[in-house]
Amino acid sequence: MVLEVRSLTKAYANRPILRGVGFEMAAGERAALLGPSGSGKTTLLNCIGGVDRADSGEVIVAGEKLHALDADGLARVRRTRIGTVFQFFHLLPTLTAAENVELPLQLIGVPAAERESRVRDLLERVGVSHRASALPSELSGGEMQRVAIARAVIHRPALLLADEPTGNLDSHTGAQVLDLLAEIVRETNAALLMVTHSEEAAKRCGRVLRMKDGELIEGGGTLAFAAEGQRSQEAEVLNHLKNSAPPPLCPSAANSYDPKASESR
Ligand SMILES: Nc1ncnc2c1ncn2[C@@H]1O[C@H](COP(=O)(O)OP(=O)(O)OP(=O)(O)O)[C@@H](O)[C@H]1O
Ligand SMILES: [Mg+2]
Repeated sequence: MVLEVRSLTKAYANRPILRGVGFEMAAGERAALLGPSGSGKTTLLNCIGGVDRADSGEVIVAGEKLHALDADGLARVRRTRIGTVFQFFHLLPTLTAAENVELPLQLIGVPAAERESRVRDLLERVGVSHRASALPSELSGGEMQRVAIARAVIHRPALLLADEPTGNLDSHTGAQVLDLLAEIVRETNAALLMVTHSEEAAKRCGRVLRMKDGELIEGGGTLAFAAEGQRSQEAEVLNHLKNSAPPPLCPSAANSYDPKASESR
C-alpha cells in the first residue's frame, strides 16, 4: 500500500474536524475526495501530506510512519515521497517555470546536470517547454497548473495529493489538467488523492471517498481497494515498468525507479 490512514482524528480549538478517518490506497490508484465545504477535506490532505499533524491515529506513506517522525523526518518524507498540487498553483513568483520545477530536486541534492535534463523532459511532457523561462505571472492558469503538476512529480513521489487542482480553471482547461494528472499517474504508478467539488471530475477517478462532518461516509474503511478494472490496469502498468525501466515520464533520468518499492501488498 502506498497510503494507509487509520483512525485519524484532529480537532481545532476542541472542535473535532476529523473523527476517525481510515482508508488505504494502492500504487496507481486514483481517488476523488468529495464533501461539503468545511467537512475536513483539506485538513485530511494536510495530515496525510505531513504539513499538519493529526491528534491521534496513523498515516503511513510508502512504509513511512508519519505519526512517528520528528519534524526533520517529516520534511524528508514530504520531499521524497509526496507531491502536492494546489488550487491556486502556489508557484514561487520570482522563479521561472523551469526553476520552480527544479526546486524539489535541489532540495534533495540531485546534481545540476541531471536536474536540468529531468526538468527539460518533464516540461516537455506536460506541454509547457516553450514557456520554461517565463515567470508565473506571465503564464495562463492552465500553464501554471501544468508547471505545478511538473513540480509535484519531478521527484517521482509515491503519493500525489491534489486539493481542487481544477478549482481555479475554466471547465475545458480543467478537463485537460485532469487528463494530464491521470496520464502522469499512469506513467509513474503514483497513487493520486484528489479533492474536488465536481462529481464529473470524481467520475474520472477509479474511486470516490466522500466526507461529511469529519467522517468518511463512502469509500473508506481499511479494506477499501481499487475497483477490479483498475486493479488489472495497475498490474499492466507494473508489468510495463518492470520490463522497461526507467519509466516513460523521465526517459533520460539516471536513477532508476523500483516498482517493487511501492508494491507492498
Ligand atoms: N487552522 C485552523 N484553525 C481552526 N479551524 C480550522 C483551521 N483549518 C481549518 N479549520 C476549520 O476546520 C473545518 C474543516 O476545514 P477544511 O479546510 O478541512 O474543510 P474543506 O472540506 O477543505 O472545505 P472546502 O471545501 O471549503 O475547502 C472548517 O470548519 C474550518 O473552518
Ligand atoms: Mg479545502
